[in-house]
Amino acid sequence: MRIHNFSKENSILNNFMSEIRSISIQKDRMRFRRNIERIGEILCYEMSKTLSFKKSYLKTPLGEMSLMQPSENFVICSVLRAGLPLHNGVLNYFDNAENAFISAYRHHKSKTEFEIVVEYVASPSIEGKTLILVDPMLATGQSIVSTYEALLSHGTPKNTHIISVLGAKKGVTFAASKFPKNTQLWIAGVDEDLNDKGYIVPGLGDAGDLSFGIKLQH
Ligand code: URA
Repeated sequence: MRIHNFSKENSILNNFMSEIRSISIQKDRMRFRRNIERIGEILCYEMSKTLSFKKSYLKTPLGEMSLMQPSENFVICSVLRAGLPLHNGVLNYFDNAENAFISAYRHHKSKTEFEIVVEYVASPSIEGKTLILVDPMLATGQSIVSTYEALLSHGTPKNTHIISVLGAKKGVTFAASKFPKNTQLWIAGVDEDLNDKGYIVPGLGDAGDLSFGIKLQH
């Protein structure tokens, strides 16, 4: 897997990352969602530079011209519910992409042990298409891997890109070991640690709760 970690570059992305991490600013739910969306927009803009392009022709009011446009068919897939703001950011730039939604959640066997349960898969065929997997938090990496495996019942993608806000080293390494080698990861930050509950440290907290409010646990 090719990893593009943008925390190593100085860019405006760092402003959005600092706001979603800040214990005071992240309390503004609308701002949190919008910042995640903006991060998705920037990451998929960067990703777009690596796509296949073909020449297309158009008429302006004053003449005719050609320009290069992406030639791939995209399916954007996110995991409910935390993935939704990031999904929106990607969809803002890939206007005509098809979309897939998967429900995956942590089923806790004990306070520190959990398994990922995938229950709902709403997806078009992904056969021969460019799959953009959207997962804001690559903590253990298990949910993105389970999501990918569940999607393979809908075809084999030509290419896979993963768009993620924040990962833990362990989760990124695990995902890299499970995805095909030509998969590319576009990520705004990778932190050192995971705590015993599977949260990224220093991280930002629970992205789903920060976007949509707390939910009752299973
Ligand atoms: N999911 C989150 O929302 N936050 C984490 O730190 C890990 C997984």
